[in-house]
This record gives sequence, C-alpha cells and structure tokens, in this order.
Amino acid sequence: MPVPYEENPGALAAALERRRGELAAAWSQTDAVVLIGAGQPVPRPGRGDITYPFGAHTEYLWLTDRNRAGGVMAFDPADGFTDFVAPVTAEEVLWSGAPADTPSEGQDVAGLPGWLEARSGRPLALLGCPPAGLAGDPERARRLRYALDAIRRRKDAVELDRLRAAAAVTAAGYAEIVPQLQAGRTEREIQIELELAFLRHGGTAMAYDSIVGSGPNSAVLHGSPGPRPFAAGEFVLFDAGAEVRNYVSDVSRTYPVGGALDAEHAEWHAIVLGAQQAAIAMCTVGTEWLDVHRAAGVELARGLIEFGLLRGDPEELVASGAIRLFFPHGIGHLVGLGVRDVVGALPGRAGGNDSVPRIDLPLEPGHVVTVEPGLYIVPALLAQPELRERHRDAVDWARAEAMSDFGGVRIEDNIHVTPAGPENLTAAIPSRPGGGP
Ligand code: GLY
Ligand code: MN
Ligand code: MN
Repeated sequence: MPVPYEENPGALAAALERRRGELAAAWSQTDAVVLIGAGQPVPRPGRGDITYPFGAHTEYLWLTDRNRAGGVMAFDPADGFTDFVAPVTAEEVLWSGAPADTPSEGQDVAGLPGWLEARSGRPLALLGCPPAGLAGDPERARRLRYALDAIRRRKDAVELDRLRAAAAVTAAGYAEIVPQLQAGRTEREIQIELELAFLRHGGTAMAYDSIVGSGPNSAVLHGSPGPRPFAAGEFVLFDAGAEVRNYVSDVSRTYPVGGALDAEHAEWHAIVLGAQQAAIAMCTVGTEWLDVHRAAGVELARGLIEFGLLRGDPEELVASGAIRLFFPHGIGHLVGLGVRDVVGALPGRAGGNDSVPRIDLPLEPGHVVTVEPGLYIVPALLAQPELRERHRDAVDWARAEAMSDFGGVRIEDNIHVTPAGPENLTAAIPSRPGGGP
C-alpha cells in the first residue's frame, strides 16, 4: 500500500518563486551574468548511445524542480532569472514518450546565445553543469555558490514534505524486512525484498545503491549485497533508503539474525546507539558540526574503553586518531536533494567534500543532516603496521584479532535542525535489535 503523499502544485510554485527571489536578492550585488545549467546525459563508455540515468544538476533542479536535460537558468541582476528549456522533440517522444517533467514555461534554449550576446563584455559565472564551450570566471562562481549553498541548505516546506514522505516510505520498507532476518536468508534476497517494499510503498527510486552486509561484511562501509547466507545471532547492517520526488532518506540500521544478539554484540550495538543519541541531541541551532563529530568520537571511545578494546582517556583517543581504527568515517552529512546535499565548508574553512567529515559549518534552522556513528572491526585496517605501531598502547590488539569476523554496527538517522531542537525524521524505524526506538 503506497504511503499517502500528495504534492500541492500551488505550494511548489510558490516555493520556486521564493527560492528564485531569495537567490536574486543574495546575488543582487554581483556584476556577473550567471548561468546554471541542468547538464546533459552522460554516455556509458564503450556502449554506443546508452547513457547513465539522467539526473539534472541539483543547483538547477532546486531552482526549477525540473529533472530534464539541456535547460539553463540564466541570471542578470538587472533582469532576474530567464528560464531556458530544451524543447520536447518528436524523436524524444518516439523513443521515450512524453517526458514527465515537460517544460510548461520557459523559452527555447536556442535563444541563450542571443541572450548572452546582448550582455557581451560582462563577467560570466557558470554554475550547475554549464553548456559546453563557455568560459566563466571560477572565483566569481565560487563566491556566488557560497550564497546559493547557504540558501539551499535551509530546507523549505515543500522539501521537508518530500523528506517526510521519503522517510515514511523507508520506514514501511524496513518494517517489512525485519521479520525476514532469519538464518539461511541471503543479503541479496533481503536487498530485493527491501527495495521491492520501498517501491510498493510509493518510493520513486532507491536513494542510492542499497547496502546489506552480514557477519564480517557488516564492517564493509559501503559493501554491495551478495549471496552470503545469514547465520543466527550475527549482525546485518543495512544502509538503504527510498527517494520520493528527488528527495531521499539515508538510513542505516544494524539488526541481528534471528532477533537476538549475544552479550558482546549487544554491548557493541549499545555503544553506537548511545553515541548516536548523544550526537542527535547536539543537533541544535549554532552547534558546529565538527563538535558533533568530535563528541561522537569521544562517546564511542568511552564505550570501547568499557568494552575492553581501547585503553586510555577518551578525549586523547580521539585526539591521537586511535578511535579512527574503529570509527573511520565522519559523523554525517547534509541530506535532501540526493544523499549528499550541499556538503562543504564555510568560506575560509578547510573541511568539505573530500574530507572527514564532509561538512564544516554551524547548524542552522532547516538544515537536515544524517547522524551516523559506527564501530567496525575492519581486519585490513587493523593489520596496517604503521597504525599498529602508532596506537600500540591504546588497543588490546589480541582482543581485536580475536574479533576479526565480528563485523560492525552503524545507526543512521536524518535530523531536521529546528529552533525547538532536533527533529528525527526517521525515528519511526526501530534502532534497537529487538524493536523499540
Ligand atoms: N548511504 C551512504 C552514507 O551513509 O553516507
Ligand atoms: Mn547511509
Ligand atoms: Mn549517510
């Protein structure tokens, strides 16, 4: 049964007008002409005319809600936005039918060269996926993108409705697979059941490639589900979510096969859940994301000291990097229009896209972030001689080696930052192995 979700076209139209108005105000002082392109389908190498599934650049998609190739939003501070679209062709209708996101407004993109010609001599800034053959000023583009990112990070009501719908679909999917986590079932079988449930409940796509890892595979951070059959009592780590109208849930849960964990696995799971709850509580307006990341590391280190795997002071285990032997990723990232949405850092800050964590900024109302601590036994990481030497005294290495098949736990929710505190959009999906929030 699909999760009820109905879009209000009036609210969407008003939201698009508001987004464009807010951006035009933020860019009002620029001397540049700006183009924000949707992009073109990307060919699959060596496969003739076959392309990857098209996804418009998120900067364009946010401004137009149109997942269609070839369009360009053009901006001149004197005139505001001009919406150039690729007209629907007979060839396109022949092969693919009428496009779902048919342009109902806008001008033929063939008019773009003339629009640019009328502004020749002005600096040009290129955002999104710009049309081929144009040279823009990267420094101006960088500054304009900072302003755009700041607005895009604050989700509006239409975006939050879609995120809530994606979360409801995702919750319905997880509810269907939990009773199926029995010995003998395989990662692949359960992946299929979960994805089928997402689609049946109204998901428009998977948010990303689903991760289902059992036993030792639960320690492979982004592992692909395979034919491995489950054994009773081991972990199954899920990282999977549904997409609704381009907005996604990014959810991880770690459940036991057969409904129960032994004491060691249960303690490991409880450490991660405790750190996650502490980190979620910190998702308040003004809190620096790097502080959330650090605090989660300290909580995890405290838990592993009690567990008997780490030795020393929790703060020092974070400062020395010892915690990264077992928590080797960031605490989370912005999520929304795709699984990584407007990640990056404030101007002048070093964090961002390729670093851990992927964002370096203070939280604001309307931000939606994942909070996803994890603890894993990754034999390949723990075997590195340089790390073993550096953290010689911080780890009970004999215990770590005895746990080589243990796997790992990640628990991930999507948190909306509000002036009244954190709102967990994915709270309906039970975090504890036997159920419960
Ligand atoms: N689903 C990938 C991640 O959690 O970032
Ligand atoms: Mn995830
Ligand atoms: Mn994530």
